Amino acid sequence: MIAYKSAFFAANNRELIRKAKKRTSNTEDSLVNNMWAYLLISAVSGLIAFKLALILYRRRKYPEPHFDWESIDLDEISFPENFLWGTATAAHQIEGNLTNNWTVHEENKNLEKSGEACNHWNLWKDDFQMLTDLGLTSYRFSIEWSRLEPEEGSWNNEAMDIYSQMIDDLISRRIRPTVTLHHFSHPVWWEEKGGFADENNLDHFLSYCERVFDALSDRVDVWCTINEPTVFSTMGYTLGQFPPGKRSIRLTLKVMRNLMRGHAMVYRSLKSKRPEVRIGIAKNVTLFDPLNRWSPIDWPVSRLLDWLWNGAWRKGIITGKMLFSKIPQAKDSLDFVGLNYYTHFLTGLFMPTSTDELEFAKRPHEIATEFGYPMYAEGFRRAIEFVAPLNVPIEITENGVADAQDSLRPEHLKRHLWIISEAIKEGYNITSYHHWSLMDNFEWAEGYSMRFGLHEVDFNTQKRTLRPSGELYRSIIHNSKSK
Ligand code: BGC
Repeated sequence: MIAYKSAFFAANNRELIRKAKKRTSNTEDSLVNNMWAYLLISAVSGLIAFKLALILYRRRKYPEPHFDWESIDLDEISFPENFLWGTATAAHQIEGNLTNNWTVHEENKNLEKSGEACNHWNLWKDDFQMLTDLGLTSYRFSIEWSRLEPEEGSWNNEAMDIYSQMIDDLISRRIRPTVTLHHFSHPVWWEEKGGFADENNLDHFLSYCERVFDALSDRVDVWCTINEPTVFSTMGYTLGQFPPGKRSIRLTLKVMRNLMRGHAMVYRSLKSKRPEVRIGIAKNVTLFDPLNRWSPIDWPVSRLLDWLWNGAWRKGIITGKMLFSKIPQAKDSLDFVGLNYYTHFLTGLFMPTSTDELEFAKRPHEIATEFGYPMYAEGFRRAIEFVAPLNVPIEITENGVADAQDSLRPEHLKRHLWIISEAIKEGYNITSYHHWSLMDNFEWAEGYSMRFGLHEVDFNTQKRTLRPSGELYRSIIHNSKSK
């Protein structure tokens, strides 16, 4: 009986222990489950809190000001006595009848052909009279490498002589020649070697620049090495809309670095020849703002693009390091910075990958320019603030708007000049303004559809007509000079 009882108790105990164990393991399981759920909830809410904090931080750090322009007196502007008033052009856009990387691209991509352009190569004397009539004191234009060295190593001295005559003529008009050495175009033979995509090609670029410098620097004091390196590299190698029409991020980064190397090489060499000249670069500062300022996606996209477009370049000049490469000779390689400003881009997740897909977003109250992007003069001030840490004088080397009817340009001009005037009052060292452009011209991939001129050009007759905005600019210059 005792044995039976103890067997019974033993069995009962085992059963109790088993049940107890099961209960414990159920409790443990649910504890573990709860812990995971808790961790997950904490991680997600931590992430949300972090993202929100980051958004709040970025909203504060990168404000996007918009002014009530109605309440601003745009006539309240003043400029220093020695401030220079100018316009800007580029060889391929105005000279006409060239053979270069662009004409090949126009043919290959079946674009509108640059052809005769403004026939400026033959009409430059008349065009320079327009500069005088506007009262300008500086004129920014570019030299066409493909004219001077159409075949590798064979130089066209007659073409150099025409550029030399242009310089003399400008000086006799008391207009400062402001010369750009590379404005998007170069000889076909150099493009065939890979252009800026191959570092070995930079020696050719350097010897072209040295040659021009040797011929003209006795009269030209201010030089831009390269126009808009970031536009050149992204349009030609990411979006494929400029020659050579490629689409590769790897190549884009390579070209960006080589443009920096090319600029630095030219800067060092020309400075060693004549330390007294001033050498800079024309940098397009486009601002990237998030389309939705509360979006956790739009913010990183806009910061990344801003870094690639603007930040990496500025870091290159300040530190001599750019996009994971050391370019020590680039450090402090500017005597002035040329600032080209047009607009801001509102960026989100679905960014266009070619300009055909480009549909520019704009804020509801912003006015769209003919190009599609918004007029955002407030951003001009931000662009000035962006280049200020370079600690060199700022020359505005380009600013303007496509507007065939001239309905927006007067307001555009006034707002942007007001921004400069305010910035100067607050201590920014801005020494010149060059309006883009003197006259309508060949607008690259857009052909002749975009009209940026203070003068309208009839491309059938080559007649130039001053637009009302041109008259406005003339009177602003006149008033400023007579103050
Ligand atoms: C370029 C000019 C161009 C202008 C208007 C600038 O990016 O330097 O060549 O015509 O913008 O689009």
